[in-house]
Amino acid sequence: MSVRKPFVGGNWKINTYLETGRALGREVVAGCEGIDDVEVAIFPPIAYVLPMAGVLGKADSKVLLGAQDCYPEPEGAFTGEMSASQVADCQATVVLVGHSERRHVIGEDDALINRKVLAVLAQDALTCMLCIGETLEQREAGQTDVVNESQLRAGLNGVSPTQLDRLIIAYEPVWAIGTGRTATPEDAQNAHARCREVLGELFGPDQAQAIRILYGGSVKPGNARELFGQPDIDGGLIGGASLKGEDFLAIIEAARS
Ligand code: 13P
Repeated sequence: MSVRKPFVGGNWKINTYLETGRALGREVVAGCEGIDDVEVAIFPPIAYVLPMAGVLGKADSKVLLGAQDCYPEPEGAFTGEMSASQVADCQATVVLVGHSERRHVIGEDDALINRKVLAVLAQDALTCMLCIGETLEQREAGQTDVVNESQLRAGLNGVSPTQLDRLIIAYEPVWAIGTGRTATPEDAQNAHARCREVLGELFGPDQAQAIRILYGGSVKPGNARELFGQPDIDGGLIGGASLKGEDFLAIIEAARS
């Protein structure tokens, strides 16, 4: 039995509007009432983080509020961006960094992602969820573990052991995101176990045992329980299925022990 509390995040990407997001947020909050054995977070589009803080705050809910990204600089001339302290000021407490769409659609590299990780962790109120994962081409070339290792080592460069209780890893194979193709539980477990070994090499085995590693990529109510049942899979980061309250709540239920 894992000592790590499962975590399920709903990444809404650029879906929902103010009212549809509020309604979805209320549905998640109501469905999570009384659930203490799973940590749940929603990651609305950045424009709606503060309005969602109103929804979660009003219901006095334990559902965490997250941001999908932030910029590494604290302030200044960076048009269109938002700093980690501004994200925290909008009452988000978790920030995704290095999501595959940031890496492969927007073009972020490991150096920028590392600066973001450090900027998020520099804010005591924020938890950083570093996302990693291989492309289909890399997988077919047998590079899954190599890619994960290099993204972990580069992304976590300079992270202090004292910050690790505010770090979560999300392994999301790029070819599984939004495609309906999921890693088999065995393949996902193998990748997670290797990630934990790398975390052990970086921070020590005890620390590595305490860090949650989530799986993401076409997680649905029908496959969540088997994935989350693997010893090194500590929950999930959910895209499409998090936009339907019923499905997201069923996935949260699947993470319960
Ligand atoms: P899907 O669940 O839609 O595959 O998206 C996964 C994801 O990218 C979560 O961050």
